[in-house]
Amino acid sequence: MLNFTGKVALIAGIGQTADEGWGIGAAIAAKFAEQGALIFGGNRSLESAERTKSHIEAAGGTCHVQETDVTDSASVKALVDACMQRHGRIDILINNVGKSEPGCPVSMNEEIWDSQMDLNLKSIYLTCHHVLPIMEKQATGGSIVNVSSIAGLRYIGKPQVAYSATKAAMMQFTKVTAVMYATKSVRLNTVVPGLIYTPYTRDLAKRYAPGGDEEEYMRMRDAQVPMGRMGNAWDVANAVMFLASDEARYITGQELVVDGGITSSTGRA
Ligand SMILES: NC(=O)c1ccc[n+]([C@@H]2O[C@H](COP(=O)([O-])OP(=O)(O)OC[C@H]3O[C@@H](n4cnc5c(N)ncnc54)[C@H](OP(=O)(O)O)[C@@H]3O)[C@@H](O)[C@H]2O)c1
Repeated sequence: MLNFTGKVALIAGIGQTADEGWGIGAAIAAKFAEQGALIFGGNRSLESAERTKSHIEAAGGTCHVQETDVTDSASVKALVDACMQRHGRIDILINNVGKSEPGCPVSMNEEIWDSQMDLNLKSIYLTCHHVLPIMEKQATGGSIVNVSSIAGLRYIGKPQVAYSATKAAMMQFTKVTAVMYATKSVRLNTVVPGLIYTPYTRDLAKRYAPGGDEEEYMRMRDAQVPMGRMGNAWDVANAVMFLASDEARYITGQELVVDGGITSSTGRA
């Protein structure tokens, strides 16, 4: 099951932003490497990418990384070209980059709106723009998994209008592109995480914890989940692995929600 031996996985947003804990992109990369995939990753900061690379290499895996800005077409093309130069193919593409900025349509300024569109949505257009022609030419096609958020399905208790809109748009981008590529052996799916404990969540706590009480902020997040706890990066990585695998060969254009039950609940016990 879930054997990726010799498969080339290109991961946008592979970085591990802190020494402690696991970011989602880093966990996805580590899982794929563990199952035999050759990892090629792009990330805004090389320092974060190198952290992931060290983890993978220490465990005996193969990983190359390159500084990349996923909002910039030339930078994405350079990443894709470098991966092709090294491995000659791309079997799996993971779009993991994403970040939320707070605000409603009135409080959010236009620059933030535009930057959210670029980071969370244009980025997947750019990676697909450069990778789909490669996958289409490969006899075995390819598999693309995009990382969205339940904020793209529901209002999750805080105003983040641009993030929610981009994460919803990402799901529709995935669906329609999946149909366009269905006869070309290229599958596209979305993983939709709920509240996940990552170094980024720690940052959110620093920024938004009421009265600066970070542990209380974490307890509040845990309490929102029917299972009583946030998920972790491995929970998301497991879902990504399944959708990218041959075992999911008849699944395309779908969303797999990984949220401990939040989106199935009205919030009342
Ligand atoms: N954590 C959650 O609760 C949660 C819930 C639902 C969905 N998600 C989604 O899951 C994904 C990963 O989240 P995470 O919590 O693991 O976040 P993270 O730790 O911040 O990981 C995101 C990575 O993307 C990189 N990145 C940011 N901007 C970039 C750019 N312009 N070009 C290339 N790389 C860039 C970051 O680089 P740096 O190292 O330079 O910062 C970081 O390494 C995101 O799409 C997020 O929206 C997260």
